[in-house]
Amino acid sequence: MADPKKLFIKTYGCQMNVYDSERMAEALGASGYVTTERAEDADMILLNTCHIREKAAEKVYSELGRFKPLKAANPDLKIGVAGCVAQAEGEEIMRRQPLVDLVVGPQTYHRLPAMEAAVRQGARAVDTDFPEEDKFEHLPKGPRARRAPAAFLTVQEGCDKFCAFCVVPYTRGAEVSRPVDRVLREAEDLVERGVREITLLGQNVNAYHGEGPGGTWGLARLIRRLAKIEGLARIRFTTSHPNDMEDDLIAAHGDEPKLMPYLHLPVQSGSDRILKAMARKHTAESYIRLIERLRAARPDLLLSGDFIVGFPGETDQDFEDTLALVREVGYGQAYSFKYSARPGTPAAEKTPVPDDVASERLHRLQALLTEQQRAAQDAMVGREVSVLFEKAGRLPGQMVGKSDYLHAVHVTDPRAELGQIAKVRIVASGPNSLAGELV
Ligand code: SAH
Ligand code: SF4
Ligand code: F3S
Repeated sequence: MADPKKLFIKTYGCQMNVYDSERMAEALGASGYVTTERAEDADMILLNTCHIREKAAEKVYSELGRFKPLKAANPDLKIGVAGCVAQAEGEEIMRRQPLVDLVVGPQTYHRLPAMEAAVRQGARAVDTDFPEEDKFEHLPKGPRARRAPAAFLTVQEGCDKFCAFCVVPYTRGAEVSRPVDRVLREAEDLVERGVREITLLGQNVNAYHGEGPGGTWGLARLIRRLAKIEGLARIRFTTSHPNDMEDDLIAAHGDEPKLMPYLHLPVQSGSDRILKAMARKHTAESYIRLIERLRAARPDLLLSGDFIVGFPGETDQDFEDTLALVREVGYGQAYSFKYSARPGTPAAEKTPVPDDVASERLHRLQALLTEQQRAAQDAMVGREVSVLFEKAGRLPGQMVGKSDYLHAVHVTDPRAELGQIAKVRIVASGPNSLAGELV
């Protein structure tokens, strides 16, 4: 048998891209590819890209440039661009970077095997359709290999919300939910392959409305059904929109033990004026009331969020309102970004906030969020948490896992095993992780 061809995939952007990269590797697995960690060894390089901010998109071109010597050394090397930059820019990518052989959007990567074959014949292939068929049903399956203990599972994709700053509705398309039975089948398969924790993914995962027995199911019902899978110990979901937080999902945080006490709920700004300009369709007040209801259901819920500073028209007072919201909510973790004007979005037409002002705001917001994150971590010291060990650490006998609250926890103990969920007492808090001992 010929040596298998080697595939190098580099993933940018959100967790959904991580999931998609796994699926693309499986799809090309059926065409005889095995993955490699080294771009120099590859017969095919795929960049799975993100278009969310200008920097993310530009990174793709600098990365592509670096592959030039590899292609000179190996004329059979094929280079592909997948993901959201592929969707947004399509053929333009090939004009800007002639060494690209293949461009495939997030909704057509089930066609990769055919595209790969065409590219091997010397063609250049572009496919950025939004096809009728469900890509997940048309993906060739790879080998049923053992999986790492924590896995992603996409249940919903796309977005109809059209926040004024955001490219996702254009790059991922309209909101689509996968049917309940398909999700269950995939979850059961993951569990059989060693998975103990599943994170349900969607651009607006809590807008999930999949067809299932008896009609349309919401996310809470799906989670309650998944929780019945024996061997599946933990369920998470991301990313949610405040307007889609249905009552039963709030309740599930209180009464479904397998649903972990961590919630990523982006708010973007604490100023109603800016929220309105962003077309978020909620207020700071309604967000805070929602958090209160969630905390009433699950008092120890650890909250995470996303923030944008320097949105067009943001004044000092608007920014102070964001700081005030952050102080009121108290986040265990958060992501904050300087507004980046994205071509084709309504906000890109507006006059930007001066860059130095935006940078200064970002700096102040991040200082506050880091302080809150440290406080939440430090508060774990002395507590007992459950930890799922996901990989070996750098030290001998060390395991690294995630607590119920999604904190990274290091434990050095020969009894700690991969895939095990153990009770751990937290003994120390570092900048980005905790240290603990088996109880
Ligand atoms: N679907 C999710 C977020 C998807 S994008 C939601 O609705 O919250 C992830 C985050 O990137 C967003 O929450 C936002 O904070 C940030 N983001 C999106 N577009 C951006 C832009 N143009 N400039 C800066 N940050 C942006
Ligand atoms: Fe983007 Fe808004 Fe949709 Fe989130 S809800 S993906 S921020 S348009
Ligand atoms: Fe980026 Fe696309 Fe995800 S733009 S954040 S990779 S949906």
